[in-house]
Amino acid sequence: MALEGTDIFPRLERFYDAVPRDAAVAEDIGEFVLFVRQGAGWPYYARPKLGGQTPSAADVTAVRARQREAEAPEEFEWVHETTPDLLAVARSAGLDVLLAPLLVLDRAALVPDLPVPGATIRFLDPAADRFAADVAASRAVGRLGFGAPATTPATSTAGTLILEPAGPAQRDAVPTPGEQLVADQRRRHASGRMISAVVESAAEGIVACGSVQRVDGVAEVVGVATLPSARRRGYASQLTANLARRSLQEGDDLVFLSAGDDDVARLYSKVGFRRLGTACIGSPASSAALG
Ligand SMILES: CC(C)(COP(=O)(O)OP(=O)(O)OC[C@H]1O[C@@H](n2cnc3c(N)ncnc32)[C@H](O)[C@@H]1OP(=O)(O)O)[C@@H](O)C(=O)NCCC(=O)NCCS
Repeated sequence: MALEGTDIFPRLERFYDAVPRDAAVAEDIGEFVLFVRQGAGWPYYARPKLGGQTPSAADVTAVRARQREAEAPEEFEWVHETTPDLLAVARSAGLDVLLAPLLVLDRAALVPDLPVPGATIRFLDPAADRFAADVAASRAVGRLGFGAPATTPATSTAGTLILEPAGPAQRDAVPTPGEQLVADQRRRHASGRMISAVVESAAEGIVACGSVQRVDGVAEVVGVATLPSARRRGYASQLTANLARRSLQEGDDLVFLSAGDDDVARLYSKVGFRRLGTACIGSPASSAALG
């Protein structure tokens, strides 16, 4: 795959526009389209309308009002290279914008599948009895993983208090998801629109997770997380490599992801991804998470 291919950004736009439509209703608001979740799926974002003009600050304000009304997070996503003027508009309208490295797989550079120390990588099977338990453990790992960024020290001390990194016990204490969410996940996996994998060990159970969402030959790697107690063993790298290879085997020819920061981007670069651009994630300036 040629990374320079001029059709990559338009394909990404079509992908971002298509993915939420499976589980959300699309509402046009100015030059944005807002995806409002239906049922138990995760809440979606607003993004520039496919083929539209640069949204205005008034469009941002109107979308936020509708998001509050729909009890959806006030979140916006777009690709900087495709809608470059939106960055200044979004900031002027009171959004903080996270600039996330956008990386595309260089197929020739994809690392080989290697055994992971002390564990195995397993793809989730929507027909299996354990699918619901796998979804529950994966969501718990994701929640704990994203709650502890890679740059957080594994162990910190404050006086005599020692904070242990979250591990299997904390994972197992996370409440299990509802039946509707599991059913939604099962449907997505059975249709092939989503593929998920986990890193699992006999002693610790599921310690890392990740997925790809797929539409029309484009696959996005999402939700890669490792339990804080199981980091720096190569789990996320190998999991990502396995997911990418599986997507290629299933016929996808554009595999991409956005990394939370440059440290995470470096990890993906070692797997075979190359920086192509910047994904922008906007949310209200008062938000502590992205501020
Ligand atoms: C980012 C994250 C998924 C990485 O998980 P991980 O399983 O620790 O990742 P890996 O072990 O594959 O790689 C992490 C580092 O450990 C190194 N490493 C890999 N195997 C190793 C080993 N056996 N011994 C020591 N270091 C090792 C890797 O080279 C990498 O180094 P780098 O940061 O200098 O590139 C994890 O920190 C996490 O869950 N973060 C929060 C969620 C998140 O940001 N997810 C990414 C979404 S974009």
